[in-house]
Amino acid sequence: MSYPIVRHRRLRRTAALRGLVRETVLTANDFIYPVFVTYGTNVKEEIPSMPGVYHFSLDRLEEEIRRAQDAGIQAVLLFGIPETKDAVGTSAYDPNGIVQEATRAVKRWAPDMLVIADTCLCQFTDHGHCGVIHQHPSGAAAVDNDESLELLVRAAVSQAEAGADMIAPSNMMDGFVQAIRAGLDDAGYADIPILSYSVKYASAFYGPFRDAAHSAPQFGDRKTYQMDPANIREALREAETDVAEGADMLMVKPALAYLDVIRALKENFDLPVVAYNVSAEYAMVKAAAANGWLDERAIVLELLTGMKRAGADLIITYDAINAAKWLAERS
Ligand code: PBG
Repeated sequence: MSYPIVRHRRLRRTAALRGLVRETVLTANDFIYPVFVTYGTNVKEEIPSMPGVYHFSLDRLEEEIRRAQDAGIQAVLLFGIPETKDAVGTSAYDPNGIVQEATRAVKRWAPDMLVIADTCLCQFTDHGHCGVIHQHPSGAAAVDNDESLELLVRAAVSQAEAGADMIAPSNMMDGFVQAIRAGLDDAGYADIPILSYSVKYASAFYGPFRDAAHSAPQFGDRKTYQMDPANIREALREAETDVAEGADMLMVKPALAYLDVIRALKENFDLPVVAYNVSAEYAMVKAAAANGWLDERAIVLELLTGMKRAGADLIITYDAINAAKWLAERS
C-alpha cells in the first residue's frame, strides 16, 4: 500500500494552524460604505430591491454614519438623490446640492470619516445619462464627451469645496481624470486624490442601484460610454489612460463577474485597486438568504474574500457594516 508523500491536510488540522497559513485576511479597513442621501426630513426609507439599504435624509444620516464608525468603517461613498433634475444636471454642481450638504454634515459629525464623493451626472439629469445629450443631424441622440467634462469638473470642484476627501468620477467619459485633476488643481485642491471608476462595464448588475438612485437612462443605454463586458484588454487600456492622467486609485466595477479583470489590473499597475461589489451582487445574496437558501454571513464573507484574493486592495460594498461586525464577532 502506498501513502501520500505530500499531506496538505497537516496545515489544516486545527483552527490555529489554518489561521497561521491564511493568505487573505479581510478587515473593516478594506471596506468603503456607499450611502444614499436624499431631501426631506425624518426619511429612512428602505430600497425595495436592496433590503437593508436605505435613503437617508440629512437629519437621519448621522445615525448611519455613527453606525459605520462604530463598526470600524473609515470611508463612505456618498450618492445623492436631488430634488430637481434637468438636461444638464445642474444640481450635481450646486454648491448647496445634496451631496455637497451631506459631505459638510458628515465632516462635521465625524471629521475622521473619509468622504468619497461619486462624481456623475446621471442622478441629476432628467434623461438619466451620465453627460450632456446632443442630437445628431441623423436624429440619433448621443452623450457629448467634452461638453460633459466641463460639467463634471464643476461637480468635482464643488464636492471638494464642500470638504470631500476624495473624488470618485463614475461617468466613463474620455479624459475625465485629466479634466478633473486639472480642475481640482486650479481650484486649489491638488492634494485631493481621484479614485477613478477606470474599468466600468455596461452591466445589468446596476439594476437595483438605478432604482435606488432614480438614475436609469430614459432612452437608450450606456453602451456608448461604459465598457463591453466581453473585453479585458480594453480594460487595461482604460486603466493605462487613467494612470497617465493622474488617477490615484483604479476601480473595477462590477466585481463578481470580473475577478479576472481585478487580477489583471493588480498585475499590471502599482496603484491601489478597488472593487465595487455592486447593487445586484448584494441583492442576489439578500434574496436567496431571505428564502433561506444560503447562509448569508458565510456567503458574503466568502465573496468579499474572493474579491480581495483576486487583487482588490479595497472593496466598496453595501455589506460593509455587516461584514465588519461579522468579522469582529468571528475573531
Ligand atoms: C453612476 C453610478 C452607477 C453605479 C454607481 N455609480 C450606476 C450606473 O452607472 O448606471 C452603480 C452602483 C451599483 O450598482 O451598486 N454612474
